[in-house]
Amino acid sequence: MTFRQEITCSGLQSVKEIVNSTQRSEKFINCLLKKNEDGLYRQAGTDEQCKKGDSLIIYSVDPSSTSELQACNSLFNDHYYGKKEVAQEQKLWPDEDLFIKNFIPNSNSSLLEICCGNGRITPYLCKDGNSVVGLDFSKDSITLAKENTSDKLEFVYGDAFELPFDTEEFDVSVCFENSLGIFFEDEEKIIEELITVTSKKVLLGLRNVDDSDEFLHYYVSPDGYIEFATVFTEKRLESILEKISDNLKARIDSVDYYPGLPRPWGGTQFYAVLNLNA
Ligand SMILES: C[S@@+](CC[C@H](N)C(=O)[O-])C[C@H]1O[C@@H](n2cnc3c(N)ncnc32)[C@H](O)[C@@H]1O
Repeated sequence: MTFRQEITCSGLQSVKEIVNSTQRSEKFINCLLKKNEDGLYRQAGTDEQCKKGDSLIIYSVDPSSTSELQACNSLFNDHYYGKKEVAQEQKLWPDEDLFIKNFIPNSNSSLLEICCGNGRITPYLCKDGNSVVGLDFSKDSITLAKENTSDKLEFVYGDAFELPFDTEEFDVSVCFENSLGIFFEDEEKIIEELITVTSKKVLLGLRNVDDSDEFLHYYVSPDGYIEFATVFTEKRLESILEKISDNLKARIDSVDYYPGLPRPWGGTQFYAVLNLNA
């Protein structure tokens, strides 16, 4: 069995029974998504029953396998961020709005947003005249984001592990909505890339779940895909910053933290501002 299986329920069975008979290991993240009458999937509780003909998706994912987590996320990205209807529904969260008002310069600055997806946030970074570049690794998302291009707003397809920019090309770079968490044990490499291309500040929107340091959070999309991400505390971010190369670490003058708001899929946003020296 692979980490994701679509099946049709063959007879009355509890979710618990189905999960137990299909899971690859009880140590894995095992969950069952059930299609509702409205045609949308949601995660079923273990006490629920499934009946003959129900459309089910079973996930049994090895949390210690970064490649498996990334494979799940890659499927999720293809079916979620690149979709026009998803993009149209997405708005700024009130805490993002406030954070942008307070921490993004008003004009005459150059900004980079990595993992910009379909450009949900990127246009708001232009404010009264900043030059903004949004970068993402999903071609469909970038195609969608490009519908909003202007002379101050550019979208590029690219890899956050190898940012195609010059040293300190941007005044400020950002990575929002816990996108840092999708890089699993490579998070410090992404921070190194961000510091390299930035002269003043790196801003991170991170997710905290119950102050846990060791936790994989996941979000289930209505069409039956799952996005995994690690979550953060201030302490965990600081341990990641310890791992970055000495020359880049020396560029961090201080780190400030600001609270955000809960998200409907769980966890609460908080923000970290890395103040850099030139
Ligand atoms: C959690 S989503 C956030 C999207 C957007 N920032 C938002 O808040 O709506 C993460 C995004 O990271 C992108 N991504 C994943 N791996 C990447 C990589 N190596 N380089 C650049 N973007 C990547 C995905 O395509 C996805 O759009």
